[in-house]
Amino acid sequence: MASLAVSLAGLELRNPVLSASGTFGHGLEMQHFAPPRLLGGLVSKTVTLAPRPGNPLPRICETEAGLLNSIGLENRGLEYYLREIAPAMRAAECVVITNIGGERIEDFAELAARLDGESAVDALEVNLSCPNVQGGKLPFATDPRTAEAVLRRVRASTRKPLLAKLSPNVTDIGEIARAVEAGGADAVTAVNTLLGMSVDWRTGKPGINTVMGGYSGVGVKPVALRCAWQCVSAVKIPVIGCGGVASASDVLEFLAVGCRAVEVGTSCFSDPSHIARLPEQLAALLEGAGFSDVNQRIGVLGKGQATPACRPPVAGHA
Ligand code: SIN
Repeated sequence: MASLAVSLAGLELRNPVLSASGTFGHGLEMQHFAPPRLLGGLVSKTVTLAPRPGNPLPRICETEAGLLNSIGLENRGLEYYLREIAPAMRAAECVVITNIGGERIEDFAELAARLDGESAVDALEVNLSCPNVQGGKLPFATDPRTAEAVLRRVRASTRKPLLAKLSPNVTDIGEIARAVEAGGADAVTAVNTLLGMSVDWRTGKPGINTVMGGYSGVGVKPVALRCAWQCVSAVKIPVIGCGGVASASDVLEFLAVGCRAVEVGTSCFSDPSHIARLPEQLAALLEGAGFSDVNQRIGVLGKGQATPACRPPVAGHA
């Protein structure tokens, strides 16, 4: 069995497969489909200080290749998370990452401070990049100075490892990655959803109530891969790939561009158990190609190495 263990930002993951925020509840809701002991980690739905009802319906719709969502960070707020969710998460047999979101820099700092003492939480993912609040303006993810300021305040509020989740809806994601690294992020998650929209030409109605929303699913993979690679090229901290991952081969593509792990999201909607099968499929794929350790495939982009299983046979041998 190929070794799948990876480490990043001080976290030891049994494999590089994590759930993506917002697609898997807080994680334990899905344990009958995907036992946490099979995953590298669980990333929670975004938690905000106060409860949020989210955006008006409809706030999700299918596209030809993926989903549009405009949930608007619906959640029951930090008090509920600390009282009802976190204690249960202490039993999760994998790394637990809590995703936090806010409207002001102070919100992020307070969330980080309040979660700092919670033993269930191994790390925080700072959601700088939800496209469905503040009119899709993405104030924290598009301006490097603001992104750095958020991370600086959060860094001062917690000792936990910090992942900064970035948006693809920027001109130069490498610049934002460098900014969050300067602010104290321990890793970058690349990327959140692409800003998109859909319309029914017969009725003139938009697919989702807010018209614009976040586009995700297999169609975004080339964009996400490009963003992840740009982040890898821009910073020294590890990068976690996110966007369109639906197979073990997709996982290895993100690792090839230098990511140390991936988050799996939209594909869990059609089959919530498939994420739990990915590690085994990943091991089989690696073994079939002649590799004994997943770390051998991290950052191989452009290195020109054929996989052992693809090498031409040595003359005289079958
Ligand atoms: C949402 O709740 O609207 C989606 C969360 C996100 O994209 O960060």
